[in-house]
Amino acid sequence: MSIGFIGAGNMASAIVRGIVESGYAAPGDILVSDPNPGALSALVAQTGVQGAAGNAEVVAASSTVVLAVKPQVLPSVFEEVAARMVAAGPLVVSIAAGTPIAKLERWLSPHVPIVRAMPNVNAQVRQAISAVAGNGAASRDQIDSVLAMFGSVGDAIELEERLFRAFMAIAGSSPAWTFLYIDALARGAVAAGMPKALALRVAAKAVAGSASLVDDGGAHPWELIDRVSSPAGTTIAGLSVLEERGLPSAITQAVRATVERDKEISAGSD
Ligand SMILES: NC(=O)c1ccc[n+]([C@@H]2O[C@H](COP(=O)([O-])OP(=O)(O)OC[C@H]3O[C@@H](n4cnc5c(N)ncnc54)[C@H](OP(=O)(O)O)[C@@H]3O)[C@@H](O)[C@H]2O)c1
Repeated sequence: MSIGFIGAGNMASAIVRGIVESGYAAPGDILVSDPNPGALSALVAQTGVQGAAGNAEVVAASSTVVLAVKPQVLPSVFEEVAARMVAAGPLVVSIAAGTPIAKLERWLSPHVPIVRAMPNVNAQVRQAISAVAGNGAASRDQIDSVLAMFGSVGDAIELEERLFRAFMAIAGSSPAWTFLYIDALARGAVAAGMPKALALRVAAKAVAGSASLVDDGGAHPWELIDRVSSPAGTTIAGLSVLEERGLPSAITQAVRATVERDKEISAGSD
């Protein structure tokens, strides 16, 4: 197995580290290109993967090519290597946000196996949730291999592409909202006398642990809410304020706004 990465930025670095640490692939089987010598040499030094002279070398040497550049850089990358990709027929994996499979097929060909994958920022700590969808040319084995690749940075699920927008909102954008929530919790504790650094640590652990109770088919959120809300207690007092101030509805509206904005940004791409 030889895996090539075009782009050695934040997301490629997180995925490469996950692949190597999990043993999904050996460093010697991973080839990376990036015109930014700093980004490339940092990744090579950190993980022991090989640096390529350019994108063409990656395509020529890899059975799987991961496109890990910004969406606006994709046209120039395809201009350089699309013909080679069509001729060589590697599995092409794109992590570019807002870039549907149909658009990738227009640059390449519907006959090239293409898998679209959407990780999130939590890949940096190998706790991402990633969505994966293949085109008609991608085989079951190829889709499974991409699921395993993204499984090395957290969980990975196969998802119909029509649901990627909703996924992007609750997996891609929601970490920013969670950071806001954690900071607001901490500020409340600071107001009650706790040092900020300690308050942030406590709030982050509380959020991570609560998420684990719901994750993986655990209890329903309302069952857990009822379990920790004693009659006339402290938790129900705070919960009532959050409901009166409209927190649940604000979050649902934020998801809807994110989905609508993504439709606006990628108008004409689908
Ligand atoms: N970051 C996330 O949380 C996240 C989550 C889901 C999906 N994604 C997707 O992942 C992709 C990469 O995002 P990122 O955050 O990792 O971006 P990034 O840190 O900017 O990484 C992109 C890298 O590609 C390099 N590059 C630019 N032009 C190139 C070319 N022609 N050939 C090869 N490499 C080139 C860039 O170099 P320069 O710095 O010199 O331009 C940079 O090192 C994007 O499409 C994004 O939508 C990211």
